[in-house]
Amino acid sequence: MSAKLTDRSQQDFGLSPEVACQVRDLNVTYRVDGRELSALREVSLDIRQGQITAVIGESGSGKSTLALALMNAVSSPGRIASGSVTYRGLGEVTRMRGEELRRVRGKAISMVFQASQNSMNPLTRIGAQLLDLARSHDLPNPRAVLREAGDLASRMSLDADRVLTSYQHQLSGGMRQRVGIIFGLVLKPKILLMDEPTTALDVLSQSSVLEIVRSIQRERQLTTVLITHDMGVVAELADRVVVLYAGRVVEEASTAELLRHPRHPYTRALIQAIPRLTGDLGDAKALEGQPPSLASVPNQGCVFRERCPYRMDVCDTILPSFRFDGDGEHRFACHYEEARRD
Ligand SMILES: Nc1ncnc2c1ncn2[C@@H]1O[C@H](COP(=O)(O)OP(=O)(O)OP(=O)(O)O)[C@@H](O)[C@H]1O
Ligand SMILES: [Mg+2]
Repeated sequence: MSAKLTDRSQQDFGLSPEVACQVRDLNVTYRVDGRELSALREVSLDIRQGQITAVIGESGSGKSTLALALMNAVSSPGRIASGSVTYRGLGEVTRMRGEELRRVRGKAISMVFQASQNSMNPLTRIGAQLLDLARSHDLPNPRAVLREAGDLASRMSLDADRVLTSYQHQLSGGMRQRVGIIFGLVLKPKILLMDEPTTALDVLSQSSVLEIVRSIQRERQLTTVLITHDMGVVAELADRVVVLYAGRVVEEASTAELLRHPRHPYTRALIQAIPRLTGDLGDAKALEGQPPSLASVPNQGCVFRERCPYRMDVCDTILPSFRFDGDGEHRFACHYEEARRD
C-alpha cells in the first residue's frame, strides 16, 4: 500500500503544473422526502498550487457540501452523483474508499470544519487527541506532533500547556476555533480546507488568526481552500475567489480582479454588502430576498434571476454559459453582462 502511495506522489494525473486539485462537473445531491435534490450542479474549478482559493456564497449555497466533496466525505442522505475531484500526487478521490481514503484525509488533505465541531472528541484531552491523530497516521514520532501543536498554539496567542491539557468544554468558542485550525495544520498537510474558520471570533481576533493562517500558508506554500460568506475575509486573505450561488459557480477570478471588476450581479451585491470594500460607509446594501431552497432552485435558466435587478426573458429559459474576461483568468455566467459587453 505505501509503495503504491509513494508512486502516486510523483504523478500529476494530467493536471497542469499550477493546479493542485481539479474539480470537474461535480454534482452532489441530498435525498429529501424521497426526492433527490441537487446541492451542487456541474461545479468545475481548478485549485491552484500554493495559493488560497476562497469559495464564497450565502448560507445554503453549497459551500460546506463542496468542502466535504473535496474529501469524498459527503455522507447520507447526500452523495456525489457524478463528476471528479483529482489531486496532484493522490489521484481521483471520489473513487477512493476505506483505508485509502482514511490515509489521505487528515494527512495529505486536512479540513477545519465549520464551527470546529467535528474535529474534536469531548471526552479526551486535546493533547491526547493529537497523539491519537499522529498514531492513526502511523507517524514515527507522535510526540513531535505535540511540539508542533504547541508552537502553533503560541503563534495563535494561546497558552500551549493549558490548551493541550484541556477538554473541549473547558475552552471558549474562540479558543476552540483556533484549536480546530491547529488540528488542521499539525500534520503538515499539502491541502488545507477551511470551512468558515473564523466565524466564532470577534473582529480583532479574526484578523489576527487570519494573519497567522496567511503566514503559515506562505511558509509552507500550502494549497488552501477558504470557505466563507464574508467578502471582507476574502479581500484580506484569498488569492482567487469562486462565487457560488444555489449550488452553481457564477463567477471566478483573482481577488484583485474580482473586487475591481466584478461582473456577476450577485458578486457585486456581495461586495456592496461590505462597506469597507466599497469605501463608502454610508452605502452598505444587503442583498434583498432569500436564496432558493434545494427544492426551489430552478432547473432551467439562471439560478439568480429571482433576485436579479437585470433579469431579461432569456434568463428564465437558458442557463448562461461561462464567458471569459481579460486574460482568460476571469469567468462569469450572466446573460445581462454578456449582452452589455457585446
Ligand atoms: N444532510 C442534509 N440533508 C438535506 N439537505 C442538506 C443536508 N446538508 C445540507 N443540505 C442542503 O444543501 C444545501 C447546501 O448546504 P451547505 O451546508 O453546503 O451550505 P453552506 O453554503 O455551507 O451554508 P452555510 O453558510 O449555512 O454553512 C442547503 O440547501 C442545505 O439545506
Ligand atoms: Mg456551511
